[in-house]
Amino acid sequence: MNRRSFIAQVAATTTAGLAHSTSISERAEALEHRMMVELDEQVVVRPRMCSVGAEPSAGPSRRANGSSITYQMGPDPNLPSMPSKPNLIDFFEQRFAPAMHLLQSAALAQEAGLDEETVLACLLHDISVFGLIRSDHGYWGAQLVEPYVSERVSWGIRYHQSLRFFPDPAVGYDYPEAYIRYFGADYEPEPHIRAAAEYARNHKWYMTARHITINDIYAFDPNAHPTLDLFKEIIGRHFKQPSEGLGYDGSPVAHMWRTIMFPTNFL
Ligand SMILES: [Fe+2]
Ligand SMILES: [Fe+2]
Repeated sequence: MNRRSFIAQVAATTTAGLAHSTSISERAEALEHRMMVELDEQVVVRPRMCSVGAEPSAGPSRRANGSSITYQMGPDPNLPSMPSKPNLIDFFEQRFAPAMHLLQSAALAQEAGLDEETVLACLLHDISVFGLIRSDHGYWGAQLVEPYVSERVSWGIRYHQSLRFFPDPAVGYDYPEAYIRYFGADYEPEPHIRAAAEYARNHKWYMTARHITINDIYAFDPNAHPTLDLFKEIIGRHFKQPSEGLGYDGSPVAHMWRTIMFPTNFL
């Protein structure tokens, strides 16, 4: 299937097949998933922060300001509003929703009886893909949460990215069949990814990152609809929410949370 016919098919089925989807971001996630699964050509995916909540625009967002047109700054009226002191749950609900991939991964980890910090790591493992940027998402995601979680949780998020490419049959992890479709059968990870995986393989927290990959599903289970409520207590116990709100606490990563909050700001 080529891109043109795929888009035509998506357009034809949007009303019927995705009618149950209630939000633009939910439809975007469903469409992106279908593209990942069905499109057999190279795909360039826009960073999520450029498209969350609203139809992507060709350039900087503008808005009417009386008789003139100005560039977007501050809260974007096209996006769900955020509270003045947002916490992690606000970001999940207003910027990442429905993030079913994260919820299903965490639910699998919980069902497997893994410890709470590993469940949290699974819940957050692709947070960068959902909120910020896809390329090198393990590193961006680990950095984003580093001030607020244990060192082991952020370490696991960082290294799941490289370990995903390397099987470990001893613990039941095979090379993802989906990666053959996504990247081609002849794809070889970059040397720095290979080096990172080898480093992680010999680290004391190896199994935290490995458990993320084991529970990292690439197929939505249509019958599984875990909600964030399942994990709110774990978040409360293991995510140190800053009292000023994420983005306003002066941490080294506060600007990253603000960028997720205000992705369409001109500057
Ligand atoms: Fe990932
Ligand atoms: Fe994932």
